[in-house]
Amino acid sequence: MDALEAINTRHSVRDFSSKPVDKDTVMKIMETACRAPSGGNGQPWEVFIATGATMERIRREYQERAKNPPAAPPGGPPPQPAYIQARMAQIRKERVELLGLDPNDPASAKVFMEWGARMFSVPVLAIICQDKEIKNNMDLGLFIQSICIAAKGLEIDTFIAGAFCSHQDILRKELEIPDNLNIITGVGLGYPNEENIINTYRAPRRPVSEVVRYKD
Ligand SMILES: Cc1cc2nc3c(=O)[nH]c(=O)nc-3n(C[C@H](O)[C@H](O)[C@H](O)COP(=O)(O)O)c2cc1C
Repeated sequence: MDALEAINTRHSVRDFSSKPVDKDTVMKIMETACRAPSGGNGQPWEVFIATGATMERIRREYQERAKNPPAAPPGGPPPQPAYIQARMAQIRKERVELLGLDPNDPASAKVFMEWGARMFSVPVLAIICQDKEIKNNMDLGLFIQSICIAAKGLEIDTFIAGAFCSHQDILRKELEIPDNLNIITGVGLGYPNEENIINTYRAPRRPVSEVVRYKD
């Protein structure tokens, strides 16, 4: 698979099969992602992998937490601009409709919450962290996309999701993530559950003619 094909065929898988990914393959993906560029070659990424019994323990603890979800902490990130909110609403609506549910029914949100609680059945979870002293996430973004493309090159699917990091205390305890690191996001790796229609969903993209201003 060439680079263009890997980039064009990568998409978020939201329900994984139980087929495992072996350690050598995971490490090969991570080693490849370590080729990502970074400002000053700082390479600020730190990765904590959960799989096997550790992953199952985390999953169980997340499911327990979902039974009595803690109140959202005050504050939170500032609201996104309206046009971003509109794009988010569009993909949510399309995904819910694909499942045959009514996007106007608040109960439709429950499906994704349940999948989130079982961590989308992912067999391998990479938690991506960075020193708290570093405020810029650009290098991490390059690293994370490199994980996804390297994985795709080995025919392994991925899912970048903030939802994997809903309970950071659980991740810190189970993966021994030290306090000096911020948890940036989680990347699930594995093979898709071919029976779940959600994995056929492809999020739309803005046309390149709208994105790029080209002058010669
Ligand atoms: C930093 C980041 C966090 C994300 N968090 C979530 C999440 O919590 N839940 C979710 O369903 N998708 C999440 N996504 C996936 C995006 O919704 C997805 O990448 C986008 O809709 C484009 O779809 P595609 O990945 O299938 O091309 C996240 C993506 C990124 C890059």
